[in-house]
Amino acid sequence: TEAIRVADMAHQMGLKANEIIKVLFGLGVMATINQALDFETATLVASEFGYEVEKAGFSEDDYLTPKEVDAPETLKPRPPVVTIMGHVDHGKTSLLDAIRKTNVTGGEAGGITQHIGAYHVKTKRGEIVFLDTPGHEAFTAMRARGAQVTDLVILVVAADDGVMEQTREAINHSRAAGVPIMVAVNKMDKPSADPDRVLRELAELGLQAEEWGGDTIVAKVAAKTRMGLDELLEMVALQSEIMELKANPDKFARGHIVEAKLDKGRGPVATVLIQEGTLRQGDNFVCGPFSGRVRALMSDQGKKVKDAGPSLPVEVQGFEGVPEAGEEFFVVSDEKLARRIADSRAIKQRERDLASESRVTLETFLSQR
Ligand code: GTP
Ligand code: MG
Repeated sequence: TEAIRVADMAHQMGLKANEIIKVLFGLGVMATINQALDFETATLVASEFGYEVEKAGFSEDDYLTPKEVDAPETLKPRPPVVTIMGHVDHGKTSLLDAIRKTNVTGGEAGGITQHIGAYHVKTKRGEIVFLDTPGHEAFTAMRARGAQVTDLVILVVAADDGVMEQTREAINHSRAAGVPIMVAVNKMDKPSADPDRVLRELAELGLQAEEWGGDTIVAKVAAKTRMGLDELLEMVALQSEIMELKANPDKFARGHIVEAKLDKGRGPVATVLIQEGTLRQGDNFVCGPFSGRVRALMSDQGKKVKDAGPSLPVEVQGFEGVPEAGEEFFVVSDEKLARRIADSRAIKQRERDLASESRVTLETFLSQR
């Protein structure tokens, strides 16, 4: 579907944008100068001025370089991305907090000003990026879009509570995504802790602990007392070394939205997990039906940064609208292309919405007979 903005259309026809807006108004369409018009609407407007619109058949694929396989020599090691999952209140956030406090390098611990749900941690054994997923929303959304952003899942199970509904859900999510699972049996400091019960319940679900002759790595920890945290990090580091994680940092950035919000002062901001390439200030990008230009980048530590490479979470300012969690994010060569892709997506979305609306109406109609 071809899309054209009111301003561009006016320019091409040698008119003032206002003249087009007036005609649109006559057609019952309230439009702004930046509004993208679909083919049918553009045709109607053009005919008012004696023009014909030619369908160019815009396809974003024609403009994007195909996802080619990176040559081996362009690949550089990258930190593992680890998602913390588990039942509500089993201590996911506490565990992350404890890890950050223990391992965040000198002076940075106090500098954490905001919670963005993604943390870049420097440990003795190397860097690790953690994603905290309340309700697994982002993870689920990304999986639904077929995106693989996580290298490893740490399944947190409270030693006093055992395997619960969301523990099972987390296992299913991870398996469906093909992501290896490590277990952290948490709250070991509690007198009511019963790790053997947890191991038994996990074995019943096919996660047999190493100490029981299986191949599931299990760490017994207590976020509260910091017991076992070094061992846990050691296991993550070992596991990721085996995986030999690499990405090409020397190309346009691509990644996924971890979370996004509308900030009162800064407008739409989103945490992007970069998966390949390097994101820089000033880069033009597309994300869902929105285009944008990177106005500012902020690290998980709340510090302004100029760029962000593979595996890093970074807060991006400069979106046209608030994207959805799990949405793909990618940089393109220039602003015009970014807009063009975003416009054509927005129109496709509107067409899909309209189609589903009319279907609902028809169904409602049928069910009323
Ligand atoms: P949701 O994000 O709501 O799913 O919860 P969560 O899994 O992030 O759990 P959270 O870290 O918020 O911890 C829940 C409760 O368990 C809090 O009251 C913590 O203080 C407590 N808690 C977490 N870890 C430990 C631990 O190792 N020992 C003890 N005794 N309590 C813990
Ligand atoms: Mg939490």
